[in-house]
Amino acid sequence: MTLATAAATGLAALAGAAPAQAADAPLRDLAEAKGVYIGNALAAGKLDGNARYRQIAGQEFNWVTAENAMKWGVLEPSRGNYDWSGADRIMEFAAANGQQVRGHTLVWHSQAPGWLENGGFPAAELRGLMYDHIDTTMGRYQGRIAHWDVVNEAFNESGGFRDSFWYRTLGESYIADAFRRARQADPSADLYINDYNVEGVNAKSTAMYNLVRDLKAQGVPIDGVGLQAHLITGQVPSSLQQNIQRFADLGVDVAITELDIRMNLPADAGKLAQQARDYRTVVEACLAVSRCVGVTGWGISDADSWVPDVFEGQGAATMYDSGYNPKPAYDAVAQALGGTGDDDDDPPGNGDGDGCTADYTVASQWNTGFTGNVAITCSGGSLNGWTVSWDFPAGQRLSQAWNAGCTQSGARVTCTNAGWNGTVPDGGSVSFGFNAEWSGSNPSPDTVTVS
Ligand code: G3I
Repeated sequence: MTLATAAATGLAALAGAAPAQAADAPLRDLAEAKGVYIGNALAAGKLDGNARYRQIAGQEFNWVTAENAMKWGVLEPSRGNYDWSGADRIMEFAAANGQQVRGHTLVWHSQAPGWLENGGFPAAELRGLMYDHIDTTMGRYQGRIAHWDVVNEAFNESGGFRDSFWYRTLGESYIADAFRRARQADPSADLYINDYNVEGVNAKSTAMYNLVRDLKAQGVPIDGVGLQAHLITGQVPSSLQQNIQRFADLGVDVAITELDIRMNLPADAGKLAQQARDYRTVVEACLAVSRCVGVTGWGISDADSWVPDVFEGQGAATMYDSGYNPKPAYDAVAQALGGTGDDDDDPPGNGDGDGCTADYTVASQWNTGFTGNVAITCSGGSLNGWTVSWDFPAGQRLSQAWNAGCTQSGARVTCTNAGWNGTVPDGGSVSFGFNAEWSGSNPSPDTVTVS
């Protein structure tokens, strides 16, 4: 018996070189409708040299962070000589694109100028230098930087204070002093403490939790906690939402401030599909907690990411590939933000699946099981590497698949191409099959997406 049911991606077929019709609003519009922001880290030097970088940065994000341009070592490489060029460029870009800015970062042990870190300053002088830097930097952009990372990476992995030149000279008091000074320097900015490996509940995040609790109890002005979220594909901490919630319950906002999710290279469709699920998980965890205010990615594309420079053999950590095409992670973020995930933010025929549809068919059915077939057909553009997904509407359970790698999580089934059938040519099609169990009824999914 053949029960033919077609369900398409919902994307208009693309003809010739006509401009693509956007199926989803840009991420920034989706995020705004959900009451959160979506940001990214910008390199000042790339804004003027790379049109696609500039386009994505302006179009998709409503918040920006200076990836490096507002760090002390960049701003004041020699004592008393500030270079604002990169920071000013970021501010100008943000203003031109209606974006808010996260200031990153005032007091940090890393990317501090050599004259400061190695100056051997006694405590009173070092504290004075910290105050001057806070006054000067926050003062320059007063009223124009909505959130500041006042203190960055103050903890070590086991939950003690990091043995930095700040801590060694000033003890932990430098943290409260920095926040108090920052409040004076720009009373309009929300003041954050920011760190990495604090996304789940663990020793480090608990140390941060205890500090924030104590600072609040002492009346120290702290408004938010930044969870950097430099994560690894398949390893999003299961306690992420719980951790966000416990900080929120202290009476501070929480932001995901530097999200990237790296993988071992080379990327393949399966890893990209896992990464997409991980991005979605992170955005959904933020959305689930009302005091989680937004998510910022760390680097527009894989070509802009710090990851390959630091983790040998790893990368592909952002939402765009190195050719600035949106990856499945982009679609997943759009979906998490209430979009369809059918991005169309790129030219037709570039291999990303715009103009391709997936037809789901029940090929045969028996009392407890059925065989399904999915045919992907492309028109107006080819597809290089695909992911097809759907939600089973009536509790069906996948048992086996062929010509694709399929997994099921809850109702959601996600299938990625096998090694030999990732390419669907313009005007061509590729199929895969699966067996699944059913009981009661076996309706076909409402929507099958291909990306
Ligand atoms: O600009 C110079 C260039 O002139 C020089 O030729 C080149 C030679 O190495 O270095 C360039 O500077 C590099 C800079 O990035 C700009 O590309 C630095 O070496 C390099 O160390 C620096 O890395 C940055 C890193 O912070 C420094 O700690 C990364 O771009 C940046 O993504 C990364 O961001 C941090 C956050 O601030 C805090 N949380 C962790 C996150 C990732 O490490």
